[in-house]
Amino acid sequence: MPKMITKAVFPAAGFGTRFLPATKASPKEMLNLVDKPLIQYVVEEAVASGIEEVVLVTGRGKRAIEDHFDVAFELEEDLKAKGKHALLTEVQRIAEMVTFCYVRQKKALGLGHAVLTARRVVGDDPFAVLLGDDIIDSEVPALKQMMEVYQKYPFSILAIQEVSRSEVSQYGVIDGRKVDDRVYEVRGVVEKPAPEDAPSNLAIIGRYILTPEIFTALENTKPGKGGEIQLTDGIRLLMEKQPVYAYLFKGDRHDAGDKLGFLKATVQFGLRNEEFGAAFKEYLQSLKI
Ligand code: UTP
Repeated sequence: MPKMITKAVFPAAGFGTRFLPATKASPKEMLNLVDKPLIQYVVEEAVASGIEEVVLVTGRGKRAIEDHFDVAFELEEDLKAKGKHALLTEVQRIAEMVTFCYVRQKKALGLGHAVLTARRVVGDDPFAVLLGDDIIDSEVPALKQMMEVYQKYPFSILAIQEVSRSEVSQYGVIDGRKVDDRVYEVRGVVEKPAPEDAPSNLAIIGRYILTPEIFTALENTKPGKGGEIQLTDGIRLLMEKQPVYAYLFKGDRHDAGDKLGFLKATVQFGLRNEEFGAAFKEYLQSLKI
């Protein structure tokens, strides 16, 4: 039986430049989607998939993330005194959901470098990586789907989605051979290719299962596109040592780190809200657009 995956790394030390100036002093991961910060949705997905320990890779200006998942003593006392029990339970649940630990990426040297920063804490086990601005809406949590694939293919697994040719240049793109329903053996990966150079329209998104051998690969990865140590380049090195698979997950993904993607997610999640979804729908329908 392959090892269970219980640790998840959340790289959250990037600058969030696509969302400036909103992300100048507050983290992109704390942007609010209807009633919860983005990162909470993704931590909840991880917990629902069986993750027991979350390793957050943070940098300057990211304290709000730590505070959000910590006990808020004064706030809890205040809610208790005012008899706001439902809110109190919710606030306490966030801090108790899972074990958190934090490592600091002193310089934003790239996603691959952020993952490498978590090496000490992750140790020698396979682990998950989740990006806090990829919000996935699915019946079965996306990471859980990947863990099921891992039971049959106990190697690194990259979540992929189909994108249009014009969009491939925003993603890492795989060259793959289909080996199972929704599962590909990865033969190559290219970071942000021009549409004419893309090996497919299968784009890597922000969910990964990685074997610990990725760390040695990342150590040997030279800065690539944008002068950053790219996770995709590390995965290419890893492929020289062991197989890597890709999985076409079932569900809808929102790139909430992008302004338009964030707005679309807000509308979709807003419409589904039990308390005011119907009123919101009515409002949208009343707009003369
Ligand atoms: P992005 O490519 O989305 O970069 O990083 P970003 O800085 O967050 O946002 P933009 O593109 O400039 O708007 C992908 C993920 O990797 C993390 C980011 O926090 C994000 O979750 N990351 C990136 C790091 O943790 N460290 C880095 O050095 C770079």
